[in-house]
Amino acid sequence: MNEFDYLGEGEVYLDSACQSLRPKCVIDAINQYYTEHNSCGERVKYKWGVETDEKVEEARELVLKYLDMKPKKYTVSFTLNTTYGINLILSQLKADAFKKVMTSEIEHNSPFLSTMAFSERTGLPREVMKRNEDGSIEASAYDFSDAVVVINCASNFDGRKLLNIKEVVKAIHKAGGIIIIDAAQAMAHSSEIVRGIEADAICFSAHKLYAPSLGVIVWRDELMGKMTNGFVGGGMVDDVEKDSYLLSAESKEHRYTRFEAGLQAWGEIVGLGAALKWLMKVPKAEWKKLENNYTELYEFLASSSKVHLVNREPNATMSFYVDGLDSHMLGNALSRENIMARTGYFCAHYYLDHVCKYPPLVRFSLGLHNRPEDIEKVKKVMGKII
Ligand SMILES: Cc1ncc(COP(=O)(O)O)c(C=O)c1O
Repeated sequence: MNEFDYLGEGEVYLDSACQSLRPKCVIDAINQYYTEHNSCGERVKYKWGVETDEKVEEARELVLKYLDMKPKKYTVSFTLNTTYGINLILSQLKADAFKKVMTSEIEHNSPFLSTMAFSERTGLPREVMKRNEDGSIEASAYDFSDAVVVINCASNFDGRKLLNIKEVVKAIHKAGGIIIIDAAQAMAHSSEIVRGIEADAICFSAHKLYAPSLGVIVWRDELMGKMTNGFVGGGMVDDVEKDSYLLSAESKEHRYTRFEAGLQAWGEIVGLGAALKWLMKVPKAEWKKLENNYTELYEFLASSSKVHLVNREPNATMSFYVDGLDSHMLGNALSRENIMARTGYFCAHYYLDHVCKYPPLVRFSLGLHNRPEDIEKVKKVMGKII
């Protein structure tokens, strides 16, 4: 794809689950921000500020459009990353509005640890739910009464999805609970799972979505009533007196400020807008190429009796270990051939190490930048190593 033609010949980047490569149009948009309208957003009246405001506003609209969510009900706020977004919400939720906090066993440390911290802060019990092999949850097996539920809709080691997400969200709401969805791994290649889902909040990282380093919280306006103000500062208030302040977020127009204390990463937000515009126009043939690439690599790995895949089916993200080979050493050997892949437990220690008892793993995570020759090269190099 032309947007990634800065990649050198033979350079194979397989770490998209951590950070996707950025298309040139995104890099251009950031450059343009720094060289043509480098200004603070949402407070500056001069010309550059007006241009930044327009692009920031457009980025918020594009997030909702991409997720098929209604601006009347939802607000888009920017943060640092998924981890920061989840912590920011949990650290401000009123303890007396809930009875427990729930997460699931296949989570990244981001929801896994932040739900522990929430439980420690509030004294509320924490429950870790099982996930079926296909990623779904037996909704009827759990009591969601007044629960705060924080779970992913796609895993970061094999891409398995919360297939019955609608049923789970419905069951949680029916029982008076709220759900915060970690959509970090869904947004780039499987956003359909979370589109139009009436979650209370969806947190994701723009850097896994072909955009710059940035976090996004898409949240339902009712969440405001369940939170205390624990993280406040500039850019959030309409008036301040000696011992009190009036939050701008009280009005719908400025609701996003509720999670945006201080100056934001304006250039990155502008870059996110460019990434979403680009992503929504990626031709079908490119999606097909991605599918062909990961299916071919998956089938190659699955065909070796020495390779133990975590995946049950092909996905752009796949993890495995090889009999008799240390995964970190394998990662180093791949790196010497210019193949960039991750090794270890990918911040999903609890499930991969303690539940499944896997040795450290290797993860290949593909993206739209990958070329068929990348796959040929990985197969050749892996074939030699195995
Ligand atoms: C499923 C999932 N959740 C949360 C995160 C945390 O993302 P970040 O480090 O951008 O906060 C990741 C990162 O890999 C992830 O894969």
